[in-house]
Amino acid sequence: MSAAVYEATTSAPVNIACIKYWGKRDTKLILPTNSSLSVTLDQDLLRSTTTSRADPSFTKDRLWLNGKEEEIKDGGRMDNCIKEMKRLRKVLVEDKDPNAPKLSEWKLHIVSFNTVPTAAGLASSASGFAALTTSLASLFSLPLNPSELSLIARRGSGSACRSLFGGYVAWEMGSKPDGSDSLAVEVAPQSHWPEMRAVVCVVSGEKKDVGSSVGMQLTVETSPLLQHRIKYVVPERMEKISKAIKERNFDEFAKITMADSNQFHAVALDTTPPIFYMNDVSRNLIALVEEYNRVCLEKTGHLGAAYTFDAGPNAVIYTLPEHIKAITELVLYFFPVPSAPAERSTQASAVGFTDVLNIFPE
Ligand code: PMV
Repeated sequence: MSAAVYEATTSAPVNIACIKYWGKRDTKLILPTNSSLSVTLDQDLLRSTTTSRADPSFTKDRLWLNGKEEEIKDGGRMDNCIKEMKRLRKVLVEDKDPNAPKLSEWKLHIVSFNTVPTAAGLASSASGFAALTTSLASLFSLPLNPSELSLIARRGSGSACRSLFGGYVAWEMGSKPDGSDSLAVEVAPQSHWPEMRAVVCVVSGEKKDVGSSVGMQLTVETSPLLQHRIKYVVPERMEKISKAIKERNFDEFAKITMADSNQFHAVALDTTPPIFYMNDVSRNLIALVEEYNRVCLEKTGHLGAAYTFDAGPNAVIYTLPEHIKAITELVLYFFPVPSAPAERSTQASAVGFTDVLNIFPE
């Protein structure tokens, strides 16, 4: 009889925030200074796929990311997630069932692939840690719901907690010191507002200069504007954008999304030393969307698109199906892809259409 194989493969999509998370009140537990809200891009193109295997013959936990072995640092984020999942396996499964194999005592081999430019401000860590968490939950047969799993994904990368759900997702900052109420909740499923589209404009696939962890803590330590944002701006925006999503009100959704992206980049600039995530191409994309919206407002009384930028120069433009053709044509007109259309990959999807436009491929 051949020995049982304990292995699980899952995948998780990226999410792009409309209300940005920027700042931790607890860096070890990854507890944020404000709540945030995102849309999960639920399609094949931008996601992480992770396979975990437990075996008594393995001598240490090992990780391969995009085909290259990475060190799992003792006490690091990956290590914290793995240890927490093993602890849950023991408490929730092995302690209750004496016949359950003691997977919590075995070492793991984990293989993960991203189809997202890693660390280019397109949330590869979010899909990566969400996929790691779901793959270990499946391997360990943990009876946990997505909000409960989001508590563990959060320990890997804050924004990862939101990738446990599809559709429209809030990360509630919580108030408990142990972080047990800092978790992701569904605001609305994808099916509630399936018309939402995301046009992803890849301005650069390079690694950013200032990583989000270092960047956000510099902001927490030095930016007076962040304190204003946390106290007076985000709580109201969270309520308003949740309402806009529930009512499928694109004008309100777009206005808040763009304002929040701009305030996030303003607090980055308000940091000492200042952090610049956007570049000239990013700023020109903002000008393009603003101009497009001006014309839309004039002609129809409604906005047509909303830009948002994470910690990098790449743009995500949220829009509706009737604007997709105009938006992609305008972007390609002003930022032509040298070898289009071969470098332009297009993907139709459940949540929305995502068009990845390599504006300045390396
Ligand atoms: O989860 P992190 O540490 O990669 O931080 C993500 C921060 C932003 O992407 C800029 C905002 C967000 O809410 O996703």
